[in-house]
Amino acid sequence: MARNYTMNYARCKCFLESNVYLKSYGLHVSFKSEKQFEDCYGKRLSEMGCTDFRPVVHEIKEELERRRRIPYESMERANYIKANYKPLHPDIFELQDAFLHRDVVKLLCCIKEGSIDKAALGLRYRTHGVDVFSFPIFTLEFCNKLISEVDHFNETSMPKGRPNSMNNYGVLLDELGLNEGLLTPLRKQYLEPISQFLFPEKKVTEFDSHKVFTVNYEENKDTELAFHFDNSEVTINVCLLANCEGGELFFGTPGSDNGFGYTHEAGNAVIHRGSAFHCVLPLLSGRRVNLVMWMRSSPVRNLTCPMCRRTPDLEPMENGWGDGFLVANEHSANKGT
Ligand SMILES: [Fe+2]
Ligand SMILES: [Zn+2]
Repeated sequence: MARNYTMNYARCKCFLESNVYLKSYGLHVSFKSEKQFEDCYGKRLSEMGCTDFRPVVHEIKEELERRRRIPYESMERANYIKANYKPLHPDIFELQDAFLHRDVVKLLCCIKEGSIDKAALGLRYRTHGVDVFSFPIFTLEFCNKLISEVDHFNETSMPKGRPNSMNNYGVLLDELGLNEGLLTPLRKQYLEPISQFLFPEKKVTEFDSHKVFTVNYEENKDTELAFHFDNSEVTINVCLLANCEGGELFFGTPGSDNGFGYTHEAGNAVIHRGSAFHCVLPLLSGRRVNLVMWMRSSPVRNLTCPMCRRTPDLEPMENGWGDGFLVANEHSANKGT
């Protein structure tokens, strides 16, 4: 019997038992069993006013079941959308230089020529050892087209997944079909060289996959986001619309007032390591829409999973990029059977 190996993208099994966000308590929890859960969080939840754990346990179990189904359901939705969705702006599905702000084109040229100094360009924000940079990336015309495409999609009866348990109104742009012609070329041609320049650590910026979605902050919808870090090596967060008061991004440490705020401006990107703690301050009025891309490097995350901080326990995916890990998958090939 011959043995064949293929390299498959994978996810770490910690995704199926940890980092579950309990919105009503603003708490991230792990869940291995009901006993472990009560032992770990019982006292804290009681102090926060929880008198009955059953609805909490039910909520967690539903979330973990949703996570188990993600790869299969996502593929089904993407296939359905590809066959049935009529885009409002078909032209934005292929990357064009005209979508990009002239400053980012200039920035890339300078980086390639080696003629740029980060500090001199005024690109650098540095606080508490966290590197956060910002630069203009898209024209406003492109931002408006992308928002109207996403709004149009949301108004149709197409099947919709949601970016994660913390953002309930965003759209998964891979399912919408924007990766192949627009977002993967954008990552390879622009975001990777810029990331290599801004975050020069070896391998962190050799990306081989990403997850990309929009987030939508609006009154009576999502209005803020608790402190967290991202499941990425580097995150780029591009503002498409910021007709709002409040809703700034805040980089700092949970439980401390130290840190700094970043006010979004349409067309501008903010870029940071996924490991940088951040939150979204309460939106007071209006609407803000951003495109978020979690860029991933399998040589980095294969050593340590950014979510559980351990050697990842990998589950290969049959399709797609999983959570950006790579694993050798062994097949037994029995000839003639
Ligand atoms: Fe984030
Ligand atoms: Zn993990």
